[in-house]
Amino acid sequence: MRIEKLTTHIGAELSGVNIAEAAKNDDLFAEIRAALLEHKVLFLRDQVIRRADHIAFAERFGALEDHPVAGSDPDNPGLVRIYKDENSPPDYYENSWHADATWREAPQMGAVLRCIACPPVGGDTMWANMEKAYDDLPDHIKTQIAGLKARHSIEASFGARMSDEARAALKARFPDAEHPVVRTHPETGRKALFVCGFTTHFTNFHTADNVRYGQDYAPGAGQLLAYLISRAAIPEYQVRWRWTPNSMAIWDNRCTQHYAVMDYAPTVRKMERAGIIGDKPF
Ligand code: SIN
Repeated sequence: MRIEKLTTHIGAELSGVNIAEAAKNDDLFAEIRAALLEHKVLFLRDQVIRRADHIAFAERFGALEDHPVAGSDPDNPGLVRIYKDENSPPDYYENSWHADATWREAPQMGAVLRCIACPPVGGDTMWANMEKAYDDLPDHIKTQIAGLKARHSIEASFGARMSDEARAALKARFPDAEHPVVRTHPETGRKALFVCGFTTHFTNFHTADNVRYGQDYAPGAGQLLAYLISRAAIPEYQVRWRWTPNSMAIWDNRCTQHYAVMDYAPTVRKMERAGIIGDKPF
């Protein structure tokens, strides 16, 4: 297996490796797992594999879970279909910086995505290194956000286009989760900024240190959250991947965010994602 870095801070392309083989080979899988911890997102091309191989490989990292709104392949539970065509509703999107399923108490630790069909142009996906985003924050912001917590909501994201009843039912199944604004990677011990497109508000900001007379002291909670969420959009933290059929990405959701660029409508784009159950962030 060869590993070629794609940028200084994030992303590497693997070649000379087949995912179906890696699912069965302990040494090869261990090499890929180590590469993932180092590079945060890995890319491969020409993976002509079965859906069962895709699942078997992803399951080496941990158990998979379906998505409560996006459907899965009926014959391969755990393989979420992200299929778009000219009939896709305009509010069904992934072009918001996010880590997957942060609205869960235990968000996904990572995912393995395969391209089934590509649009003729566009449809790239971008990933951002959220450890670098944290490291580069000014010291006074690091001090201010140490110990801060925030809510992440499926109600306010996937639920937004539902009827009131359906949205309430979704929220009853998945109450908004509270997570630290800065999380620590359970394997590397590194800190990462952990607010994204699913984050609605801080839960413990309104204390005497931050607020006077019901008004935010400086900077305000809303401004601070918007500032932190905007960090993923800095190009120097990013890698961008041009899909081809049977190319794949493997990413670590504990230290990255991603954004699927919606510049291909109304053409067809078909992706299949195996989402791997993670731990409660700390
Ligand atoms: C996702 O947000 O997990 C989907 C990424 C993509 O479709 O490129």
